[in-house]
Amino acid sequence: MTALAAVKPAAGFDIDRIRADFPILAEKVYGKPLVFLDSGASAQKPRVVIDAMTRLLEHSYANVHRGIYSLSQSATDQFEKARDIVARFIGTPDSREIVFTRNATEAINLVAYSWGQAFLKAGDEVLISHMEHHANIVPWQLLRDRIGIVLKVAPVNDAGELIWDEFVKLIGPRTKLVAITHVSNTLGTIVPVADVVRVAHEKDVKVLIDGSQAVQHMHVDVKALDVDFYAFTGHKLYGPTGIGVLYAKAALLEAMPPWQGGGDMILSVTFEKTEYNDIPHKFEAGTPAFVEAVGLGAAIEYVQSIGLEAIAAHEHDLLVYATERLQAINSLRIIGNAKDKAGVISFVLEGIHPHDIGTILDREGIAVRVGQHCAHPLMERFGVPATVRASFGLYNTRAEVDALCAGLQRVREIFG
Ligand code: ALA
Repeated sequence: MTALAAVKPAAGFDIDRIRADFPILAEKVYGKPLVFLDSGASAQKPRVVIDAMTRLLEHSYANVHRGIYSLSQSATDQFEKARDIVARFIGTPDSREIVFTRNATEAINLVAYSWGQAFLKAGDEVLISHMEHHANIVPWQLLRDRIGIVLKVAPVNDAGELIWDEFVKLIGPRTKLVAITHVSNTLGTIVPVADVVRVAHEKDVKVLIDGSQAVQHMHVDVKALDVDFYAFTGHKLYGPTGIGVLYAKAALLEAMPPWQGGGDMILSVTFEKTEYNDIPHKFEAGTPAFVEAVGLGAAIEYVQSIGLEAIAAHEHDLLVYATERLQAINSLRIIGNAKDKAGVISFVLEGIHPHDIGTILDREGIAVRVGQHCAHPLMERFGVPATVRASFGLYNTRAEVDALCAGLQRVREIFG
């Protein structure tokens, strides 16, 4: 088993102040303090996000891009400002490269439908990895069924890391796209995406990265990475549900056909011919989730006010501490021991079904995710029907890790 390197938590990371920013953390479950260890599924929301959305709803709500009146202009300005915040957050100076979607799933589907259908043909290959979330598997299978592309899968080793040589070998003359996760939602593995982009681009292959489990944990710079497409979701980044992001290089977005038709994505329409709007609006048919976009902008500014380096160091400390403590529990097996991990730990307890563990932990006020984590092929790879997954956010504490371990002790007592 590879040991995780320890990182000193940043001085000045005021966990009590941070926790006070999240109203839900004061809740009790079965009379016990909530221990929320499921931020990988969806993170809790700080007051500033709730307030930003409420303020818009109470004071300047009107549809965007349509009204000449003040309310609509104010809502439009806030919506477009949120786009600028997202652009700067991931390192592009060009906000036209930010397409708002419902979530990361929709962002990946957009690429598969629009770019995939326009630029790929039967026999072309899309290379994914064995640790993808279903959101980065099924859109490519649907494309395969529509136009006959070939889906290739790069293997992972027993630690849950991409097997680099095999991965590189799988980029062949027919490969047109590498679509890969930045951080595995199930294993926590951090994929070396800069190297992925480098080797793919050497062979003139485009790269899409699913950053749903990455942007909340580490600094991502799409320009430094030179990645072609980068998808992530708002609700795991302390923002609301219903809002996600597709970053794509402007030249790609210009060349891609729209994938959904409707209002806002057009400049003019006659029954004979429609002229499409400029990017990114060409890809945002219908009224967008602008309240949620403003919430996402507030979430990003909140994360930036704490600092991603400080967040990463804090979460890494939790990961190292939790790994050590969990490993000491009799017959507990951690699934995924990559050298580079973000704050996710999946594990099984021999002889006890993860759903039973999750149910007992819930009675202790501890929220973890149990199941297959939208990654069925990965469960098969590791020979487990399901796992328990604890995933950390910036508000978690070592005391909560202790509570998890005590809860698991309780599970052991109950099952003997
Ligand atoms: N994709 C989310 C997770 O990993 C739902 O839990």
